[in-house]
Amino acid sequence: MTRKGKEDFRSYNSSVSDVYILGIESSCDETAAAVVRSGEELVSNVVASQFATHQPYGGVVPELASREHLRAIVPVVRQALDDAGKTYGTIDAIAVTKGPGLAGSLLVGLSYAKALAYAVEKPLIGVNHLEGHIHAVLLEERQKGNWELEFPVLALVVSGGHTHLYLAERKQDGWVYHDVGHTRDDAAGEAFDKVAKLLELGYPGGPVIDFLAQHGNPEAVKFPFAQIKHRDRNPQNRHADDELRVDFSYSGIKTAVLRYVETHDMREKIAQRRKATAGLAKRSLADYLAVCDKQTLDLVASFQRAVVDDLVSKTLLAAREHNIATLFVTGGVAANSELRRTFEARAAEEGVPVYFPSRKLSTDNAAMIAAAAYPRFLAGEFAEPEFSAEAALRLR
Ligand code: KG4
Ligand code: ZN
Repeated sequence: MTRKGKEDFRSYNSSVSDVYILGIESSCDETAAAVVRSGEELVSNVVASQFATHQPYGGVVPELASREHLRAIVPVVRQALDDAGKTYGTIDAIAVTKGPGLAGSLLVGLSYAKALAYAVEKPLIGVNHLEGHIHAVLLEERQKGNWELEFPVLALVVSGGHTHLYLAERKQDGWVYHDVGHTRDDAAGEAFDKVAKLLELGYPGGPVIDFLAQHGNPEAVKFPFAQIKHRDRNPQNRHADDELRVDFSYSGIKTAVLRYVETHDMREKIAQRRKATAGLAKRSLADYLAVCDKQTLDLVASFQRAVVDDLVSKTLLAAREHNIATLFVTGGVAANSELRRTFEARAAEEGVPVYFPSRKLSTDNAAMIAAAAYPRFLAGEFAEPEFSAEAALRLR
């Protein structure tokens, strides 16, 4: 089923310039498929979101996620091929997310991709989801005609499952990554989701808080963040150049919001909001705004300001310490309007260009997986037959 070596890939293609890769992504709560040409053109992009399934629980329920992926995977892949005007026969390779993510969810996409690659005799490429988020930026820059990047590049990957700083470097035709900072506990997106759950603002919390924060006073409540100077307690996470590391921590702010709610008697208001929104089949941002008082709006605005300030300050600190030339900000939280605005303003003050994916490619999608697979396709780095999902896969 799988083939290795450059000569093999050449036998699949009459032309190296046009390589169509079908990407498949199922690591969390989105079933996605996309076709990307040569890592530079988004040809189709289909994302089936499971928000409605997980909404009543205020977070992703792994068993339900796997079941929903099973339901969606075949129609989503077919749709991506149809939208691209492609068939299983006319694509050049299949790329699939190998990890990190929910084991059961990853397995649905991976087993399907493996079977499909075998059946239609196409090479299969395994992609790290975090590398995918970084390549979402590269794909869109190439699509705009921007082929020039100044190195070193620092990438902040900030999502529901990750808050990671990577130094990204070119190596031959591919890329290598060095982890120079990460969260010691919760991811930033997870903090958005947990605060939204606590305040009965639905799931996922990020987009709702992003919207509501525009109506509140971000100076109303102070949520201080500490610099993390001590070494990581987990020896596996220690690095030789630990003094240059910049780590994050977002579990404290979630507890601080909870404490605020309790000391300001907000429980009753939250219960009322739960009742008011329970009957609504589909809750819009305006529905949430209608059931929020000033105190709640100020609280979410202050929470968002604190998280954004911390993400931006620490990322720029790492940028200075590593003397980086270009900044990427990607992952679901990169869709946040205040984060974008703040990064743009503060990175400009430091003379560092900052690149984001479009909002559509900030959150999980398969175009980023197909784009990240392209250099591996050129290098003939195809998956072995025993290839499987790795829930805790690291990016290197
Ligand atoms: O990248 P992603 O789709 O999935 C993971 O790999 O985790 O990120 C999802 C996360 C969720 O936590 C969601 O609340 C957050 O991204 N998110 C946002 C926004 N849009 C999505 N957070 C803040 N502001 C947003 N506009
Ligand atoms: Zn993601």
